[in-house]
Amino acid sequence: MTHAAPASLLTIFGATGDLARRMLLPSLYSLQAEHLLPPGMRILGTARSTLDRDAFANMVAASVAERIPGAEHNEAALRGLLERLDYQAASADDDASMAALAAKVEALRNGDVLYHMSTAPRFYGPACQALAAHGVAGAGTRVMLEKPIGKDLASSIAINDSVAMAFDEERIYRTDHYLGKEGVQNLIALRFGNVMFEPLWNARHIEQVQITVGETVGVEGRGDYYDESGAMRDMLQNHLLQLLCLVAMEPPARFDPSAVRNEKIKVLRSLRPIGREQVASESVAGQYTAGAIDGVAVPGYADELGRASRTETFVALRAHVDNWRWSGVPFYLRTGKRLPSRSTEIYIQFRKVPYSIFGGHAAADMQPNGLLIKLQPEERIELHLMAKTPGLDRHGLRLSQVGLDLDFHEEFANQRKRIAYERLYLDAIEGNGTLFVRRDETEAAWQWVDAIADGWRNAGIVPKPYPAGTWGPAAALSLAERHGHSWRE
Ligand code: BG6
Repeated sequence: MTHAAPASLLTIFGATGDLARRMLLPSLYSLQAEHLLPPGMRILGTARSTLDRDAFANMVAASVAERIPGAEHNEAALRGLLERLDYQAASADDDASMAALAAKVEALRNGDVLYHMSTAPRFYGPACQALAAHGVAGAGTRVMLEKPIGKDLASSIAINDSVAMAFDEERIYRTDHYLGKEGVQNLIALRFGNVMFEPLWNARHIEQVQITVGETVGVEGRGDYYDESGAMRDMLQNHLLQLLCLVAMEPPARFDPSAVRNEKIKVLRSLRPIGREQVASESVAGQYTAGAIDGVAVPGYADELGRASRTETFVALRAHVDNWRWSGVPFYLRTGKRLPSRSTEIYIQFRKVPYSIFGGHAAADMQPNGLLIKLQPEERIELHLMAKTPGLDRHGLRLSQVGLDLDFHEEFANQRKRIAYERLYLDAIEGNGTLFVRRDETEAAWQWVDAIADGWRNAGIVPKPYPAGTWGPAAALSLAERHGHSWRE
């Protein structure tokens, strides 16, 4: 595995933006506090606003104060981070400003450079090309791109093509912040660090898989972006499909960028298309109306947005991975805003025992085994098994489902909860692309999702209303129930 040299300069585009303040800068602080940033690495912020170095440093300090829990504040770490900072205003559509930025990059770098595009995706291509034109995008540089890469296959190809004019694929790091989450990497550890799951991990033993990413938040002031995008483009095209890939992929030869991504792309290419003919039976779109979350009244989507809209804030699908391992196993996927709880989980339901030796009550007690991988809000793995209910029942054994429960919060109680970007930054700084998304993956995911969106349009499907604080429209329940399955709640 060839890794690039650690970056000597990290240049963040969109350094004054919301993502930078909430996630990126606090993550850099934590890496600094743990002495994980390369010694001497400089951090150059850039955005349209004209700021001087001190004003940018004040912004960084404020974002750290706001996002890092008090107990983790460490003056020396903050000082160490601030010493690395510099700022240069620039805008991709203003060549003189890009020339000034390039000059600053040249002055600060002392080896490899990592650029991070945390701006609107339409600027990725122009910014990368301007960097190339000013001679600072050659060997020894790489670029991290935030999602979404486009809003459909055509626009993602256009962005990828235009970035590719400046950076070759090995130097492009597309983030999906779900891959930076501990729980998601733990899924890889669970599957490939244990011997007991792999023999059961296939259609012979697995009845169904469910992937749920539930959020209680609404559109959080991002209405303009969200209304263009909707749950399918905002969440399903990336986060849920990445989780599906990690559940369904074959064992990679190694934990390295090519091996892992070669397996993920095979899964995406095996997804059975859901098009116009199938959308009515295999998908459900929903939009929240006024309701209550945790007893607090919240407005409907249209009210939050300030206008009527046909954008889905909920999507549920019944997907199939058409290959030898998964033939016939439904993968139920659902995600939405204003659901009853913030909950990200993967549930694997195994098949029933082939024959029950227990008669009487126990036969009725029998339930299939299940493996629950809970990623958020807390990380937990539960294995649901059948066991004897204690007691002296004269009419034969009674059985109950019990959970073997591994609570990571307790098990690793001395580890603090990390922001996904800590992992992603560390890897990108060190030049390891394993947890980043390759071009063919993004495009295959768009292709699959576009067919569903086109299917909805052509079949005249509009989102069904669901009250905020419920698990989506009733149709989402029947999507599974029609096939004898029910969502885990
Ligand atoms: C982002 C979406 O990618 O993920 C947001 O754009 C969503 O709409 C967020 O809220 C969820 O991330 P997390 O880490 O809170 O599950």
